[in-house]
Amino acid sequence: MKRIGMGLVGPGFIAPHHIDAVRRLGDVDVVAIAGSSQASAEKKAREYKVERAYGDYQALIADPDVHVIHNTTPNYLHLAVNLAALKAGKHVISDKPLAMNSVEAKQLRDAAVASGVGHVVTFNYRGNPLVQQARGMIARGEAGRLSFVHGCYLQDYLTRPEAYTWRLDPAKAGPSNVLGDIGSHWCDLAEHVSGMKIVSVLAELTTVVPTRYAAEVSAEAFSKQAGGERRAVAITSEDLATVLLRFENGAKGCFSVGQVLPGHKNDLQLELNGAGCSLKWKQEEQNELWIGRHDQANSVMMKDPGLVSEDVRGYVHLPGGHQEGWADAFTNLIRDAYTWIAAGGRADAKPAMLPTFEDGYRSACVIDAILQSHAAGGAWKDVQYAAATPRD
Ligand SMILES: NC(=O)c1ccc[n+]([C@@H]2O[C@H](COP(=O)([O-])OP(=O)(O)OC[C@H]3O[C@@H](n4cnc5c(N)ncnc54)[C@H](O)[C@@H]3O)[C@@H](O)[C@H]2O)c1
Repeated sequence: MKRIGMGLVGPGFIAPHHIDAVRRLGDVDVVAIAGSSQASAEKKAREYKVERAYGDYQALIADPDVHVIHNTTPNYLHLAVNLAALKAGKHVISDKPLAMNSVEAKQLRDAAVASGVGHVVTFNYRGNPLVQQARGMIARGEAGRLSFVHGCYLQDYLTRPEAYTWRLDPAKAGPSNVLGDIGSHWCDLAEHVSGMKIVSVLAELTTVVPTRYAAEVSAEAFSKQAGGERRAVAITSEDLATVLLRFENGAKGCFSVGQVLPGHKNDLQLELNGAGCSLKWKQEEQNELWIGRHDQANSVMMKDPGLVSEDVRGYVHLPGGHQEGWADAFTNLIRDAYTWIAAGGRADAKPAMLPTFEDGYRSACVIDAILQSHAAGGAWKDVQYAAATPRD
């Protein structure tokens, strides 16, 4: 069996989940880690039982045993690391958002399409079996013509003013906080499941906590903040947003995102209403799909290999009643990514579920339009998006 070598750049909060996922595949070796310094890379390499450690991501990319680069650095490094990997002819699995804005994201999409290698963005909620079930039901016309797509993605980790991460620094995260961070997931999921593009948006953004108190020693995302000296930081990006949406076929939509909403841990919800039925999926109850009907009793489909459609069965790994979770869905995405990579990243071999740099660029275009709408005082703005030039 041909083995594939993986190298990871940016060993922070999300990195071990990339490593766990590829180790579950069985034919991928975690060859090396690159960190912000040699010492930090070595520490993480020991922790994750990885043999090679690099203090410079260029050295990791140049390692001939590394065929696939996983980029889990903060957003401001996505462009440089992804471009360097593509230039070296390596497959890239980049965490989201693909870049700081749609201009950078387009540069990456164009470079990825031209390179002919596999390019993936981890919009990992697509990997949930019941998300794929909903997508299939809509694609087969079982939900009828969609009129409304709505939901939310709410978290509470930024509730207290003492919570501070690079995500609130526009130089490291981009001009948006919560929209780029988790709004990007919601918009991607809404387009993926509905099969419809968002064409116009109207938004209102809010900074609920305008001053935060950052620890002198910065903490990894979502970790408990250290005690000791703190400095006041004026926050310019949003921690709450509400957006109205127009889809390409005339359907309407809306969603809210926030990270200052106590009790909401990872509360992503997506509901789609069609003439035939409604479908609702909640990330925190991800083993259930609610099906609402006008002239019959509503029902709940459990994640069960015997109940889901045949094309979804490969994303279910346990019998009904055996709960699967966030890491299983993440692994489903990584498994599809390596299936594509094993086929050389050929366009015709891409699994339909798999999000690429094209999807990362689209999501960045939607987020940019949302920011423009708010900056214009809450005016409708069209999503500006340029289609890719196909590879010769
Ligand atoms: N898919 C998801 O659901 C999901 C979840 C969390 C984070 N993310 C994304 O993953 C990325 C990282 O987020 P995180 O929460 O893990 O952040 P983090 O701050 O915990 O980790 C980032 C890591 O990158 C390292 N780093 C910084 N500069 C570097 C450099 N020059 N070379 C190598 N490493 C360097 C940091 O030291 C840190 O270890 C972000 O883009 C974020 O949006 C995605």
